Amino acid sequence: MKVTVIGAGAVGATCADNIARKELAEELILLDIKEGFAEGKAIDMMQTAALLGFDTKITGVTNDYSRTAGSDVVVITSGLPRKPGMTREELIGVNAGIVKGVTENVLKYSPNTIIIVVSNPMDTMNYLTLKTSGLPKNRILGMGGALDSARFKYYLSQELGCSPADLNAVVIGGHGDTTMIPLIKHATWNSIPVTQFLKQEQQDKIVAATMVGGATLTGLIGTSAWYAPGAGTAAMVESILRDEKKLISCGVVLDGEYGQKDISLVVPVVLGKNGWEKIVDFKLSTEEQATFNKSADAVRNMNQVLSDSKLI
Ligand SMILES: NC(=O)c1ccc[n+]([C@@H]2O[C@H](COP(=O)([O-])OP(=O)(O)OC[C@H]3O[C@@H](n4cnc5c(N)ncnc54)[C@H](O)[C@@H]3O)[C@@H](O)[C@H]2O)c1
Repeated sequence: MKVTVIGAGAVGATCADNIARKELAEELILLDIKEGFAEGKAIDMMQTAALLGFDTKITGVTNDYSRTAGSDVVVITSGLPRKPGMTREELIGVNAGIVKGVTENVLKYSPNTIIIVVSNPMDTMNYLTLKTSGLPKNRILGMGGALDSARFKYYLSQELGCSPADLNAVVIGGHGDTTMIPLIKHATWNSIPVTQFLKQEQQDKIVAATMVGGATLTGLIGTSAWYAPGAGTAAMVESILRDEKKLISCGVVLDGEYGQKDISLVVPVVLGKNGWEKIVDFKLSTEEQATFNKSADAVRNMNQVLSDSKLI
């Protein structure tokens, strides 16, 4: 198997590191536009192979897409990250141009690949990638739900004093501070509803902390986070390459599911060798569906920038 990661910055390099440690692919190409940057990161990672005992061959390249030829999965992380006080939405202008150009280059050498979009604002970037690539919609996925659900489990585990691994909890909607929906009423601790252990104010606190989880870290670190985003993306790559059929929240372009059409939103999907293989469209409560529709309106509004700037 061959994986390409575009963008050797914080998230791209961490994702590549996770993929190599788990030996998800024989070959991994790390590509960046900054001269020598991906090469350096790749050599640094390869020098951990003897210590960590992996056989994945990582090669760094500067903008040479011919080296990405025949990739089974391509992860796009290229673009600007958030600075403190910035929303993901404010990145749209710059990142849309980068993601569109990268997608076109990727497809010249891997015309039938599966693309995972990480660059923000992810919902809009994922939609743009589907429109730019012309690939079947099940081969285009956005990473956001894997991360936001892991953050949701972190905050739940802190409040419950339990292992995050014992929790089932999912975030749907948009991948934005105000558009994501942590579904606390559906969250369980080894199949017991967490709402049985948490007062309403604790539940509200967990949901609110999850929604601003990214902004909290940007405030602390000075740029957006990378460990959990890198691990979340690698988990998606793993389910695809190993055909695990894991149920993971991902950005996908909907066609009537959850009452929405022609928009990328985060919903639970089964991930296997064909990309997303099934959207799990379960019945939301009236209140949850109304919140989902509001998130869709906000994302649709943001997508408008793409047609206004003639990117689609
Ligand atoms: N979806 C998510 O959950 C999530 C989580 C964290 C970060 N992000 C987003 O991921 C992106 C990357 O974040 P980061 O922290 O790794 O940023 P970073 O600045 O550390 O890395 C970005 C890299 O992209 C490269 N790049 C820029 N233009 C390029 C191009 N045209 N071709 C190839 N490479 C190019 C840069 O040189 C840089 O090395 C940002 O848009 C950020 O907001 C998304």
